[in-house]
Amino acid sequence: MSFFFCLTNPGLEASLKLEMSKRFPHWKLSFSAPGFITFKGEGKFPDRPYLARYWGEVLGKGVLEGGEVLRLEKGGEWTVKIHTPRPFWFDAPEAVLPEESPSRAWLKIEEAIRLFDLSVMTGDVAMEVGASPGGAVMNLLDRGLIVKGVDPALMDPRVLKHPNFTHLKKPFQELTPEETSGVDWWLSDLNLAPGSVLSHLGRILRSVDTKPRGLILTLKLAKPEVAAEIAQHESRVQEWGYRTCVRLLPSHHKEVLLLAIK
Ligand SMILES: C[S@@+](CC[C@H](N)C(=O)[O-])C[C@H]1O[C@@H](n2cnc3c(N)ncnc32)[C@H](O)[C@@H]1O
Repeated sequence: MSFFFCLTNPGLEASLKLEMSKRFPHWKLSFSAPGFITFKGEGKFPDRPYLARYWGEVLGKGVLEGGEVLRLEKGGEWTVKIHTPRPFWFDAPEAVLPEESPSRAWLKIEEAIRLFDLSVMTGDVAMEVGASPGGAVMNLLDRGLIVKGVDPALMDPRVLKHPNFTHLKKPFQELTPEETSGVDWWLSDLNLAPGSVLSHLGRILRSVDTKPRGLILTLKLAKPEVAAEIAQHESRVQEWGYRTCVRLLPSHHKEVLLLAIK
């Protein structure tokens, strides 16, 4: 019998357990504390769960030889072998949300760009659906991108007055082919069910001549059941001709990143 652990973000424990039970049913829940869950099973370890920030092998409870010690606020000490490559924020300070940012979404895009070393460049065109109040837009404008923000809600006035910003103040389902053409980076941060977002996005992408280089999609996990659908959403985006990766970022609450690169 082997044991492995997952570290997830607070509030996503039930989603992670559901994801595991669907994707890797042979691995059974063993121990659960806030943000830390262990599973037991036989044979090869499964692939990294989508909703694990870190994962790896559990060597045992308490402080043992040959591993690293996790000291949990609630859940005790565990000796583990971490399998995930250490992302930048494990050893270095995390990206910090600037005071002037209109929202936490500044941090989500910052972490995605840094972690995947995304080639967002001055002069690239980005479109964000679900853009209000404008944290992610502000980040991209500061990086020199030309940004279109789609949202029926109000944008932060500092974003609105930026010369490289256009507000399309309507639901993204009403975008026209002219408005969606010539986009390098497509961002989605809609508080809507991921299945319905991807259906509309698929339709839009079929209507453009050149697909965006990258899709940076935040899938909202409003209820645990949505976690069981992530694999399906990832396959759908791959069918559009993209390589994909699903990753839980440090700033995520009930959501996960689906990154797609052409
Ligand atoms: C999490 S907030 C977006 C935060 C934003 N990305 C930022 O950087 O500040 C979700 C947004 O989705 C918008 N939204 C919901 N349904 C929408 C739709 N059908 N079309 C466009 N925006 C929509 C909401 O108005 C809300 O502002």
